[in-house]
Amino acid sequence: MDLVPPRLGAALCLIVAATFASACGTASGGEASGADLYRYCESCHQPDGRGDQLYGAPSIAGLPEWYVASQLERFSNGLRGRHPDDVEGLRMRPMSFQLTTESQRRAVAQYVASLPPVVNPPTLTDVDLSAGEQTYVMCIACHGEKGEGNQEVGAPPIAGLDDWYVALQIRKFRSGIRGSAPGDAIGPTMAAMSMAITPEAVDDVAAYVHSLPR
Ligand code: HEC
Ligand code: HEC
Repeated sequence: MDLVPPRLGAALCLIVAATFASACGTASGGEASGADLYRYCESCHQPDGRGDQLYGAPSIAGLPEWYVASQLERFSNGLRGRHPDDVEGLRMRPMSFQLTTESQRRAVAQYVASLPPVVNPPTLTDVDLSAGEQTYVMCIACHGEKGEGNQEVGAPPIAGLDDWYVALQIRKFRSGIRGSAPGDAIGPTMAAMSMAITPEAVDDVAAYVHSLPR
């Protein structure tokens, strides 16, 4: 991956650092530089990571490092957030371009993972939680009984995610806006699953997922 030998890299770093103060501090990864990089995220995801529905930005505080890093990479390489009808994805995608290296993505992901989880109040009305619980039986194989996720199959933890966000993502998977980019090895799994959820059941299962404790 590294095209520049380490020592030359360090020398270049010093030169670049004179022009762009943050260009090299981020290269080593770690929590401090992750906190620094997180400035790019605060306007939408908020300083504590609770997100902001107004921008369609979900609560990300406490999501695991592997998942955050993988999604940042997926946004930047166009596996997510590139579909012309993906309004929110198209908003997030250019933000992922702020992080130009794997180590920057990992550093900011580590920082996001270190934030205490924030569960926002429910927003969906007229939902049937027990119907949602029944639909959720189909999700357990990958996301776990408690919504804790399973890194081995690439399934993120979903317990306590914003209800509006979960419902929106399921609808995106159903309509091919997410999970259908050419070359995507992970998204199609969930896209196929989403077809098993009837349109009427989407809000119920989203409300149930939100109700699962983080
Ligand atoms: C301009 C607003 C905006 C900024 C700034 C922004 N995001 Fe986002 N982000 C969004 C939106 C909107 C979504 C939802 C995309 C969707 O619906 O697919 C999102 C989604 C995400 C997701 C996916 C969450 C999930 O559960 O899959 C992650 C991770 C994320 N953002 C991290 C970041 C990080 C890290 C930064 C800073 C480098 C950042 N975002 C900056 C708007 C923003
Ligand atoms: C066969 C495994 C599998 C099953 C079963 C499954 N999922 Fe998923 N799910 C995934 C994978 C893999 C992803 C990550 C896709 C990606 O990164 O684009 C995912 C992503 C999601 C997301 C997006 C989370 C986020 O933070 O953006 C939601 C919401 C979701 N699943 C809900 C469900 C629900 C609800 C069910 C049951 C009706 C379900 N899933 C069943 C594998 C599965």
